[in-house]
Amino acid sequence: MNYRNIPKTELKVSEICLGTWAMGNDFWGDVDDNASIRTIQAALDSGINFIDTAPAYGAGHAESVVGKAIKGRRDKVILGTKTGVTRTSDSFLRDLRPETILREIDESLSRLGTDYIDLYQIHWPDVNTPLEDSLETLLKLQEQGKFRYLGVSNFTTELMEQAKGLATIVSLQPNYSMLQRKIEETLVPYCLKNEIGLTTYGTLAGGLLTGKYRELPNFDENDNRSRFYNYYRPEIWSQIQGLLSLLDVLAEKYKCPVSYIAIAWALQQPGIVSVLVGAKNEEQAISNAAASTIKLTEGEVQEIDQYIRKELATVAF
Ligand SMILES: NC(=O)c1ccc[n+]([C@@H]2O[C@H](COP(=O)([O-])OP(=O)(O)OC[C@H]3O[C@@H](n4cnc5c(N)ncnc54)[C@H](OP(=O)(O)O)[C@@H]3O)[C@@H](O)[C@H]2O)c1
Repeated sequence: MNYRNIPKTELKVSEICLGTWAMGNDFWGDVDDNASIRTIQAALDSGINFIDTAPAYGAGHAESVVGKAIKGRRDKVILGTKTGVTRTSDSFLRDLRPETILREIDESLSRLGTDYIDLYQIHWPDVNTPLEDSLETLLKLQEQGKFRYLGVSNFTTELMEQAKGLATIVSLQPNYSMLQRKIEETLVPYCLKNEIGLTTYGTLAGGLLTGKYRELPNFDENDNRSRFYNYYRPEIWSQIQGLLSLLDVLAEKYKCPVSYIAIAWALQQPGIVSVLVGAKNEEQAISNAAASTIKLTEGEVQEIDQYIRKELATVAF
């Protein structure tokens, strides 16, 4: 495993971060808690030291599972969680009101079994709450030692700039993969210029870029990933198959699964500190950690880039 520094922090994170949304057991199909605990421990045993979670994942359930899994190993883990999205029975509400943040952080600390969070992130912007008010509350919590560094997720350049005048933001967590490259235009240059680390989600496009789904999948009724990612719409799905064929050739060359190529590609893009990858079992976690061993040639990175620009521009950009 390779480790990279989030700029301007003491956080040296594994370049592959374990995502835990599925472990909330409410959006990605049935996921067994004991399997999730074994998955987290297998990830840590494989060199992953960075875990991403959120209260929104199963209304706190994922955080509780993470807390159980890291018991006794807290000092070996860089823990990222979030605030500002409330999971209701059928949706996700954006809420960054000060009173919500104050409640959420204590609940997160309790569920995670810790007295500090390494990276506390605003999950999504909330248009109904002035950003100043949310940041003022967050800064107080940081001063109290409840979290070490502040990050944001799903922010625009404009919001980043607004936040910059009010607080030190060390990281941005956006959606980024071969199939979603919109951040390259303005957000990546902004983060590079301002030394903000990119920790990106969507690396495997919800599993699609592992190459294991070759037919449009029929996910279980309670597996909603196709609501979050639009790649599973028939018209987009058919366009993506050519990219998978190109990735097959590279996977054959490196004698590895297609997922390694998707992860390696993301890690070789400018500004990326760590890529988030979800896993539902030990095998997936171990495999995803091992993707750290692959380095594509500059020519291969360009070949993928050109293919996406030519064939998938309307999907990815
Ligand atoms: N900030 C945000 O708004 C936001 C949004 C989305 C996600 N996230 C974070 O990012 C993390 C990753 O989520 P994602 O949406 O990017 O998911 P992803 O990593 O693209 O996909 C994860 C899914 O792919 C499949 N998979 C993973 N590794 C595999 C392997 N080696 N072989 C075969 N299948 C494999 C598993 O599902 P199956 O086995 O069922 O196919 C797994 O649940 C989340 O857990 C969360 O922490 C953040």
